[in-house]
Amino acid sequence: MLEARGLSISFGGLKAVEGVDLFVKEGEILSLIGPNGAGKTTLFNLLTGFLKPDSGEALFLGQPITGRQPHEIAAMGLVRTFQKTNIFAEATVKDSVAIGFHTRRHANIGDILVNGPTSRLEKRFIDGQTREILDFTGLLPWSEYLGKNLPYGKQRLLAIALALAAKPTLLLLDEPATGLNPVETKELIDIILKIRSIYGITVLLIEHNMKLVISISDRIVVLNFGQKIAEGRPDEVAKNPAVIEAYLGRGFRNAS
Ligand SMILES: Nc1ncnc2c1ncn2[C@@H]1O[C@H](COP(=O)(O)OP(=O)(O)O)[C@@H](O)[C@H]1O
Ligand SMILES: [Mg+2]
Repeated sequence: MLEARGLSISFGGLKAVEGVDLFVKEGEILSLIGPNGAGKTTLFNLLTGFLKPDSGEALFLGQPITGRQPHEIAAMGLVRTFQKTNIFAEATVKDSVAIGFHTRRHANIGDILVNGPTSRLEKRFIDGQTREILDFTGLLPWSEYLGKNLPYGKQRLLAIALALAAKPTLLLLDEPATGLNPVETKELIDIILKIRSIYGITVLLIEHNMKLVISISDRIVVLNFGQKIAEGRPDEVAKNPAVIEAYLGRGFRNAS
């Protein structure tokens, strides 16, 4: 589904991502782990068009994506969330998700302004889809809240709901469990598993919570100082000496 070869980028003298090969198979949950500053978010930025690699390339569903704009890549079905919560503070939860559908609206602007037939049909469709996603993410009771008034854990879920509204085939989640309490973390695990089983969406996850990563992942890729140091099944990776060394050497941190 996704194949990256030799992705590299430096900031000044710092090699943030260096020669990384990565593939994602359709239907899997793949986790990307590694100590703080390992280059995980930078790799997401390279894959989703927010950064252009110095070298290397990536293909999504057989199409080159390196050098394309973020909105083009999202429209192809590769959609990401951000490590820092990124939601509409001043819009209601319901409107936010409806806005999230905008890339997929087909009514032209004239039709929307006069509330013409295509627009009305689409609005009904979007209302139904919005409700479904809110129900799916457990946000239905919060529909009328402004984004900024949601509890933190619900804001994190809203960011996922917004990503789902863009209809991804591959969803990239950047540390979705950060700041969640154990109950919320459990809810999140269920939602991620359902994203795959019900919507059939493939998931690439950056996560610091080891319990979550081990329980949910089919495969794990480990980055350290910008390089891939290990990949494999969770049980293999967990006992890999290079991985243990990377975490112990830098101190295991559970924060972002
Ligand atoms: N836009 C940027 N400019 C300069 N340095 C950056 C930038 N983005 C990330 N870095 C640096 O690149 C390294 C990798 O960062 P990041 O990808 O955010 O790590 P991770 O997500 O694994 O914690 C860090 O040393 C970080 O400070
Ligand atoms: Mg990061």
